[in-house]
Amino acid sequence: MSVIAFPFFRQNGAAPDLQRRRLLAALGWGSVGVVCGAGAVATVRFLYPRVLFEPPAYFTIGFPNAFTISEPADGHGVCLVLLKWKKSHRTWIVLEKERMYAIFAKCTHLGCTPSWYDDDRTFKCPCHGSQFFSNGVNFAGPAPRPMDRYKIALAEDGRIVVHTNTLFTYKDFDNPFAYLDLKRITVAGAAGSVP
Ligand code: FES
Repeated sequence: MSVIAFPFFRQNGAAPDLQRRRLLAALGWGSVGVVCGAGAVATVRFLYPRVLFEPPAYFTIGFPNAFTISEPADGHGVCLVLLKWKKSHRTWIVLEKERMYAIFAKCTHLGCTPSWYDDDRTFKCPCHGSQFFSNGVNFAGPAPRPMDRYKIALAEDGRIVVHTNTLFTYKDFDNPFAYLDLKRITVAGAAGSVP
């Protein structure tokens, strides 16, 4: 029986070799392409590093003279609880006759956000019922300690700055950075404006 030999295979298998070479060449160039692509991606990432843009760890609330106290102090020495920064910075600014401090609005039980009830001068936590006096000291429910306070200080331009990266627990409420001594603030805030 005679075998029909196609021209392809007639040249001692040259055609399959050619195909194999082409395949190998394609694989080779493909690898080079992958390596170059990875290098390009790495270079771009090096030039544009991933940076986390976090909000600044402080906020200003205005000049001291913008805070006037006309209300009498309650049973815990608090004249005024300002809610203005609660939503934006989870902070209450509290004014006593001679002190200002910034309470971090976070329940010390499991971290829920309490609300201020002006009628009974109390912060109440909606989660498990903890309650705090107007100065942030706990008196009911499972909260184990008073709410913490942020560092508060005057900036060089005389504005009041609350530093949200520094917290004081009740043991340090008398730390000079845990409150502003309103008696000592005189000229610095005199040129101020409403916060
Ligand atoms: S988180 Fe406030 S009482 Fe539990």
